[in-house]
Amino acid sequence: MVLTAKPETPTRGEHDRLLREAVRVLLRNWHGHATVPSRSLYPHQWSWDSAFIALGLQHISATRAATELLSLFGAQWADGRVPQIVFNPAVPDDAYFPGPSVWRSSAIDGHPPIATSGIIQPPVHAVAVASIVPRLGERGLRFAERAYPCLVDLNAYIRNRRTVDGGLAALVHPWETGLDNSPAWDHPLAAVPADHTLFETYTRRDVAHAGVGERPTDDDYARYIRLMLMYRDHGYDDDWVRAEGEFLVVDPTFNALWAWSELALAEIARRLGRDHDGHLAEAARITAAMAERLWSEDRGLFVACDVRSGRLLPERTVAGLIPVILPGLPPKVVAALIATATGEAFRIGAPDVHGVPSFDLTDVRHEPRRYWRGPTWLNTTWLVARGLDVHGHHELARRLDDDLVGLVAKSGFREYFHPLTGRGHGTRSFSWSAALLIHVLAASD
Ligand code: SER
Repeated sequence: MVLTAKPETPTRGEHDRLLREAVRVLLRNWHGHATVPSRSLYPHQWSWDSAFIALGLQHISATRAATELLSLFGAQWADGRVPQIVFNPAVPDDAYFPGPSVWRSSAIDGHPPIATSGIIQPPVHAVAVASIVPRLGERGLRFAERAYPCLVDLNAYIRNRRTVDGGLAALVHPWETGLDNSPAWDHPLAAVPADHTLFETYTRRDVAHAGVGERPTDDDYARYIRLMLMYRDHGYDDDWVRAEGEFLVVDPTFNALWAWSELALAEIARRLGRDHDGHLAEAARITAAMAERLWSEDRGLFVACDVRSGRLLPERTVAGLIPVILPGLPPKVVAALIATATGEAFRIGAPDVHGVPSFDLTDVRHEPRRYWRGPTWLNTTWLVARGLDVHGHHELARRLDDDLVGLVAKSGFREYFHPLTGRGHGTRSFSWSAALLIHVLAASD
């Protein structure tokens, strides 16, 4: 393996060039009321992408950032779920798989006025809303008033329809975790039949836009398709899926972002002059449940739980570091998380490691180019950096921010990056890579 040293810290002039390019990426990917993550691989609106995109977009136009989120909330289901994908009716059905004709959201009672998928994604939206409100000046409160009930309904959906024993949220499809093909899902997915005859009916579109070695395998996709069809054919019923769905996991990042979103809701509620104690109490409850149920003393980070087998999943993934974002963690948990992040598994801050690798560098299953099985992603790196800031580790946080900028300077606005060479992988002109670069540079100004 040839290690590539990180490039020199970009100069001010280089920052300006990167900013101009990032703005161009976001303008090109804007389609009138929302931003596509990528015009080729992901040609619709994605839920957690929109939250990260709005964080960057607010520095170009706070109005546009608000529109991005409000258009997503416009597709919220009657039960409160904010769908993972909102389909653009102007894009052909087969431009993305699985498209609207496979998800069939219009068959659901109380479906939104536009086609969507039927699953959810990590709830980062409240944090984006809280960040944008003060930038909108006098219009900020109006935006907060419109967004707040949507965010409250989403969190109520998670609490009422998705929690399992212990009060943590469970996810019913790997796509809900955001870290689709994380090695942590290998064990729970092994119980899901991989039926390749599904490919006689369905065609993957992703591998037309990114290398086969950079995307999930056909075995993974056969399982993803089976899980989504079963949920769909049970009317996206959460009682059914919690009792009988073949995949049910409690993920540390989803739950940490849920708690973080309650802290952001408290801030929004305060601005609106509403009671915010309930949000603070909910954040504390989720944080305590995570420390009790998902903390692994042995592994030195949070781990996921497979509800079906009752097993804690031992893989060390970036999803187990992201809970550092929570201010209410016990100090010894924070210290252990930082030791793990800087230790052999992730080596963050080391001169030859770029950002936060998505998976344990020492594990034989580490694949530095394949989707969530090793590469560094900018959103997860940004989240870990913000968590380090929360706990006063500003120097290490700044190194991760520098890595984020350095990766884009070296390889462009790629979807993900080889953690040791910094080379880019996945799609190009990827929106959240552009948005988070803008956000990080704005914060350092
Ligand atoms: N990330 C998924 C995909 O690869 C969907 O959320 O298409």
